[in-house]
Amino acid sequence: MTKAGIIDTHAHLDDNKFKGDFESVQARALEAGVTRIISVGTNFTSSRHACVLADEHPEIYAAVGVHPHDAITVVPRTLEGLRLLAGSSRVVAWGEIGLDYHYNFSPQDCQLDVFRKQLEIAGELNLPVIIHDREAHQEVLSVLGDFPGITEVVIHCFSGDLRIAEECVKRGYYLGIGGTLTFPNNKKLQDVVKRVPLEHILLETDCPYLAPQPWRGKRNEPAFVTAVLEEIARLKDVSQEEVAATTTNNAEKLFRLKKAQKIR
Ligand code: NI
Repeated sequence: MTKAGIIDTHAHLDDNKFKGDFESVQARALEAGVTRIISVGTNFTSSRHACVLADEHPEIYAAVGVHPHDAITVVPRTLEGLRLLAGSSRVVAWGEIGLDYHYNFSPQDCQLDVFRKQLEIAGELNLPVIIHDREAHQEVLSVLGDFPGITEVVIHCFSGDLRIAEECVKRGYYLGIGGTLTFPNNKKLQDVVKRVPLEHILLETDCPYLAPQPWRGKRNEPAFVTAVLEEIARLKDVSQEEVAATTTNNAEKLFRLKKAQKIR
């Protein structure tokens, strides 16, 4: 039987935790059917690292941007440097950017300022955006609403309720769904996934963080995204093949990736 290769749309492959066994991580991903991975930057250094990985590996793409945790470190040169990196054909999105009102590692006014500045650049460069939203659902939607030109959006590691999910779908956004879906007590996200059309869902790991059951608490890696796929299929009562084919198609559309060849 043939199946479409699946795409891990949110990984941090530049993380030190992958330093020792990067090649085996990649081999296990391929073995699991994960044929493409988007390595997402969180500051200038990690964005540059993501670009290097994408240059060296045809199955890896890069996203560049500054995470809200790192907003406080941004100087004008940071954004200019990212803009230059984004000129590479291997960069498929601007991110991850957004608001994190859970940890507040950067002050909220600074997060907002850096978020808006990056949305402006992403708009100028006509790049899709990868959004980090932690306990700031309404604020994130309101800021995005100020940028009507930006329509290609994924809310990564979606953690809102059904009402927020429906607003995202109405706007044509995608919801990035990862390991947290498999946590038994996460009824809110399971309910969202049951009700949101598969055409608005992307698979992701956010590795090395947030490993799905049964690896919860361990280092996450792209191969484990299959556990998320299985859980989506179970919740929506559709075949795993359908989840794979539709989410891959969604990712190809959002990030304007070339259609994949069918793999074995
Ligand atoms: Ni992330």
